[in-house]
Amino acid sequence: MKLLYRLLVYFAIDAAVFAFAFIFYPQGGAAAYMVMYCLILLLFNLVFFQIEHAVFLKGLKNLSDALGKTAKGDYKYRIAGSHRDPFVQKMSDNFNAMAAAVETLENTTESFISNTSHELRSPLASVQSFLTAVLDGTAAPAEREKYLSVALSETKKLSEIVGSMLDLSRLDAGNFHLNLEEFDLNALISESLLKFERKIQGKRIALHIDFYTEPCAVFADKTLIEQVIVNLVDNAIKYSPENAPLRVSTDPAGDRVALSVSDKGCGIDKEEQRLIFEKFYRVDKARTPGKNSGTGVGLALVKKIISMHGQTITVYSEPGEGSVFTFTLERC
Ligand SMILES: Nc1ncnc2c1ncn2[C@@H]1O[C@H](COP(=O)(O)OP(=O)(O)O)[C@@H](O)[C@H]1O
Ligand SMILES: [Mg+2]
Repeated sequence: MKLLYRLLVYFAIDAAVFAFAFIFYPQGGAAAYMVMYCLILLLFNLVFFQIEHAVFLKGLKNLSDALGKTAKGDYKYRIAGSHRDPFVQKMSDNFNAMAAAVETLENTTESFISNTSHELRSPLASVQSFLTAVLDGTAAPAEREKYLSVALSETKKLSEIVGSMLDLSRLDAGNFHLNLEEFDLNALISESLLKFERKIQGKRIALHIDFYTEPCAVFADKTLIEQVIVNLVDNAIKYSPENAPLRVSTDPAGDRVALSVSDKGCGIDKEEQRLIFEKFYRVDKARTPGKNSGTGVGLALVKKIISMHGQTITVYSEPGEGSVFTFTLERC
């Protein structure tokens, strides 16, 4: 388009010079026409080049200003409008995409720090108060054992939180090797669900287990897949009301097997579904009192583990209806 535009302009100059030479200087001949033509063309090219150059420099200046603002911590700044030069336009688009990614990271890091400090502070406070009660004698001798066991379970909670953060950073470091082995997926699911016996009973959740084949041999890192199941089941229980059903099932998926964890809990907005696998992302950012706690690490860890296996994880969810998380594994 630009070339056509230029050719048209050259053609117009050509015609104008020719008409000018013919009307005002008919005796000049071809040499005078050529000289005049070259001079005007040179002038035109100079003007054209200067304009293009100025437009290009303006684009670069906008980009440099934007980078300066981002460097000073203004992650909200974006380069507005479109640019004539495709190269500058591409750089502006890339800058805007980078600034958006940095802004999201900044927001999630802030909410992660606030979530994590809250998550660590409340079990620590209760450990402190229970131990103090035992030590200073406030707790009656008959109650001491109960106090100590609550303190112990709080320390377990703390070590789980810290453990999942460390796991994520270990996997993220990039030099982690999967310990692949053949095992029965059904047995692993049953073992993992045993850990939730108390939570399931406490919330009177109706658990349904549905295996399409028995046994179901898969090839994967058993410890990591257990973490995936535990995280998905933990979320399903946490984000479901009392008496809600919870279904854990396996289905054939070509030469692979698909494991689904389905709940009838609060569900997730379509917009949020894209973001829940991001590190530290939580839907309830305000940490509404009385609502479920968490650090937003679980699903990021799940996603990382599944992609390290070369497999996929999907979520199907309707707000108010419930959610289904499904991931695949390689069958033996
Ligand atoms: N089964 C589910 N039902 C509803 N919301 C869910 C479910 N699983 C995950 N979520 C949403 O995704 C977010 C991220 O999950 P996760 O990474 O496990 O973090 P956490 O459980 O620590 O908040 C949660 O904060 C929650 O809002
Ligand atoms: Mg979770």
